[in-house]
Amino acid sequence: MTFLTIQEAMKQGSGEVSLHGWVYRERGSNKLKFVVLRDSTNRIQCVIDKGVVGDDNFAQADKLQVEASIEIHGEIKKEERAPGGYEVHVKSFVIVGECDQFPIRSDQSREFMDENRHLTLRTRQLSTALKIRSTYLQVREEFFIKKGFIRFDPPILQPSQCEGGSTLFEVKYYKDTTYLSQSWQLYAEAAVYALERVYGTAPTFRAEKSKTSRHLSEFWMVETECAWMGLHEISELAKEELKHCVLAVVEKHTEDLKFLGQDVDKLRAMAEKEWPTIKYREALRLLKEKKGMDVPFGKDLRTVEEDKLMECFDVPVCVTHYPVEVMAFYKPRDPENQDEALCFDMLAPDGYGEIVGGSQSSMDVEDMKQRLEKEGEDCSNYEWYFDLRKYGGVPHSGYGIGAERVVAWICKLENIKEAIPFPRTMLRWKP
Ligand code: 4AD
Ligand code: MG
Repeated sequence: MTFLTIQEAMKQGSGEVSLHGWVYRERGSNKLKFVVLRDSTNRIQCVIDKGVVGDDNFAQADKLQVEASIEIHGEIKKEERAPGGYEVHVKSFVIVGECDQFPIRSDQSREFMDENRHLTLRTRQLSTALKIRSTYLQVREEFFIKKGFIRFDPPILQPSQCEGGSTLFEVKYYKDTTYLSQSWQLYAEAAVYALERVYGTAPTFRAEKSKTSRHLSEFWMVETECAWMGLHEISELAKEELKHCVLAVVEKHTEDLKFLGQDVDKLRAMAEKEWPTIKYREALRLLKEKKGMDVPFGKDLRTVEEDKLMECFDVPVCVTHYPVEVMAFYKPRDPENQDEALCFDMLAPDGYGEIVGGSQSSMDVEDMKQRLEKEGEDCSNYEWYFDLRKYGGVPHSGYGIGAERVVAWICKLENIKEAIPFPRTMLRWKP
């Protein structure tokens, strides 16, 4: 027997079908039952009539609790009144797996939902966001393949920090200590000397002390690194990549995005507009003049400042030239303004904050050593990285995007935890 997915059956539109899936909803009387069946592709109403399936089979219908798994054989028909426009008139059905009372309901606390994530995954909200996540990562990959970039898979265990020692997760490694990757940028930099333009996606770990709706301790960073590129080109590439991804996701998931409460037309229009680039100093001026916020030069923009700034824009904005003193050691000084770094962050509108962080890479080994020492780092751990400057060094630039931040923004999710299957945060690492 060949089973169709619900989506395939709807496409077929008429005739006999065999479907399998889970009970999404059920109601009915002792003669007639309505079961909404769900699979990974869609939902469809199925009508079980005692007169058609017979007394013995109908007796089984009492065991059709929400989330029981079943096989259904019947005839699919157009039915305007049914959600989705089709209905299956069941000829027989088999219960594959009975179900205890399913504990997940929409009125439960976030804590309970997170505690039972292995079951919450089946909710329409979460599975829709996860499908969009899958598409986003796929179209992003297609974008780079088309451009001739080479996929690069970095190590996850790394001997040193990249984005500041305070958020490293330590791992016992035989008799030594190593760390979970905080960013694979330093390895991407080694890669460009062989492959020139690389992209990839890798798990990334940060022991974040922040309990915000934007921070995970484990997330997936999509990074890009290009030889021969400077700040302007790299930040323009980030815009092009994200616009491509937003438009491709909107096209494929219009209905899903609507279900999640996103304004699809607004999202599409936003991806078709110009996305501005401003300098950090300009951002400070806007904060002061438009929002009455006095932020001194030399402070990194935190969530509050980012949110206030983005109230001035309805599209993503690249902010460049942050102060060197609050930037990672590898971000170079602007030769024209030694206290500014050749770096950028891209901030998303509607309160989604920083989605991209990128920069040129420093070629000044002495400066990098001084900055690392200031952070209390042992420079000997970075000799391999400094080597790259010794053997045919070239200017190069790159950026990292938090996949979950982008998915949360595109899907208009309330919390970044809704953009990853099993979120890890300061307070949760189970199940
Ligand atoms: O801005 P970040 O720290 O940049 C880097 O790691 C660079 N090494 C990237 C590069 O230049 N190649 O992180 C990049 C992005 C952020 O803009 C944000 O989207 C995401 O990673 N991110 C997080 N996402 C979820 N939870 C966290 N705790 C995150 N920290 C960063
Ligand atoms: Mg950043």
